[in-house]
Amino acid sequence: TQPTTSTIERTLILVKPDGVRRGLSGEILRRVEAKGYTLAAVELVHATPDQLATHYAEHEGKPFYAPLVDFMLSGPTLAVIAEGDGVIAGFRSLAGATDPTAAAPGTIRGDLGRDWGLKVQQNLVHGSDSPESAEREIGIWFPQS
Ligand code: TYD
Ligand code: MG
Repeated sequence: TQPTTSTIERTLILVKPDGVRRGLSGEILRRVEAKGYTLAAVELVHATPDQLATHYAEHEGKPFYAPLVDFMLSGPTLAVIAEGDGVIAGFRSLAGATDPTAAAPGTIRGDLGRDWGLKVQQNLVHGSDSPESAEREIGIWFPQS
């Protein structure tokens, strides 16, 4: 047998308001589970401006920031903690490129997303981009944990 050196990673996934509104939450979670990741927590959250300011702090001041926050306030978001080896990079790979028009077929954004005349704003999902981001973002969306 091989030594078990792997550590189970956690990531923060959001099904953004466009995904919830379009009834794609189940399809998106299905893909996460079909890949072999475990859902550790799932909660429907209506984000607050404070939460979004913290979550998107790295983008403050960019031209797309204010419309992005408004969009994220437009309806409930499904917040998910997913677990598994390599889940942080693995979910980013499942999600596909930020721009749903450019995102490859086979990815969540490539198969299910499109440009609604809003460029990349509505791209269905968020996934943490590093272990540090994941722990920070889990604290924002699951403050009780
Ligand atoms: P970013 O962190 O660059 O992308 P990702 O979600 O793939 O990590 O951007 C965060 C979100 O900001 C992105 O999912 C959608 C929105 N956004 C825009 O609305 N316009 C833009 O030009 C960019 C780059 C992002
Ligand atoms: Mg990002």
